[in-house]
Order: sequence, then C-alpha cells, then structure tokens
Amino acid sequence: MSLRKIATIGHPVLRTVARELTAEELARASTQALLDDLVETMRDANGAGLAANQIYEPVRICAIEQRKHNPRYPDKPAFPLTILVNPTIEPLSPETFLNYEGCLSVPDLRGEARRFAEIRVRAWDRDANPWVREIRGLTAGTFQHEIDHLEGKLFLDRVEDPRSLCTLREFERWHLASFAERARSLVARFGA
Ligand code: NI
Repeated sequence: MSLRKIATIGHPVLRTVARELTAEELARASTQALLDDLVETMRDANGAGLAANQIYEPVRICAIEQRKHNPRYPDKPAFPLTILVNPTIEPLSPETFLNYEGCLSVPDLRGEARRFAEIRVRAWDRDANPWVREIRGLTAGTFQHEIDHLEGKLFLDRVEDPRSLCTLREFERWHLASFAERARSLVARFGA
C-alpha cells in the first residue's frame, strides 16, 4: 500500500467523468491495490470519503468512512468503511438540506451545498457483490459528495449562496455552532 497524491481544484482529472469498471477489471491485482491506496490516502488525510479521480485515477470507485471524532468533521455520525464501485444514486424523497461541506481537493474551504436528505445507493463492493442501501441525513450528503466526484463535479458546483464560502478557521469561528445544531436535528430525525 502507498499514499497517493491528492489532486486539487484546477486539475482536469477532477472535472473528468470517471469510467465504469468491469468485474474482470475490478478483480485485477492492480485495481485491488488502487482500492487499498484509496483507503490509506483517505485515512491519512482525515477524509470522510475519497473518490478515485481525486488520486488521478478516473474510474468509478470511491471510499467512505466516518470515524468518530474525525478532526475535519467532528459532527458527522460514524459510518463504517465502505467501498463503492460503479455507484448510482436515486433520491427517495424531494426533501433537501444545506450541508456545510469541505473537500480534500479544495483545500481550506467550506461552503453550503444542497443535498437530498434520503437516497438509495446501488453499487458493487470490492468483490463485485451487489450493494444496495438507503442512506439518510448527513451521511447521505457524504455519499452524494463522493459520487459527484465521479461525475467530475465538486461541492462548489452545488453551493447556492457563495456567501456561505469560508476558510476552515472562519467556519469554526462563525458557522460551526449553527451547523452543528442543524446536524443534530438531522441526526435526531434520521439516526446515525
Ligand atoms: Ni471531495
């Protein structure tokens, strides 16, 4: 396993629509090694998720993991390590919420992106077994953020009010408390 470099905003790979993988490609040792690197790089950077094109590999793979007390996202509910291959999303209701997001490819910036509150995600796991889940609340925001990466989209594209943009320092000073309140009410409704 090795740590990979993370692409930052402006690099075309982040605006590339990632291609689907076949089951045969997924089973290759090189693809399995890429998955291990993706997870290791995500954990090293304290990410709540990471998409393969963020490490310069434009294929439809992303990892999500919300460990308790992640210093980048202390309010996110815990979610176990999940690898999604060729994921698709379907909203389960029209309800949306504003999620204060950051991204390892957009250093030191946070902004409010609009996300569906309840979604169904279909994907393969790393062994090409079908994986289907209904995901709600803040975690649904994380899934939409990562799957957007595979479409060449960044959370900035979903920011409706550019005045919500802020550095991490100013987020913590001015916006964290009210967002934490919103996060708690979402967690209370949808669970962790
Ligand atoms: Ni991101």
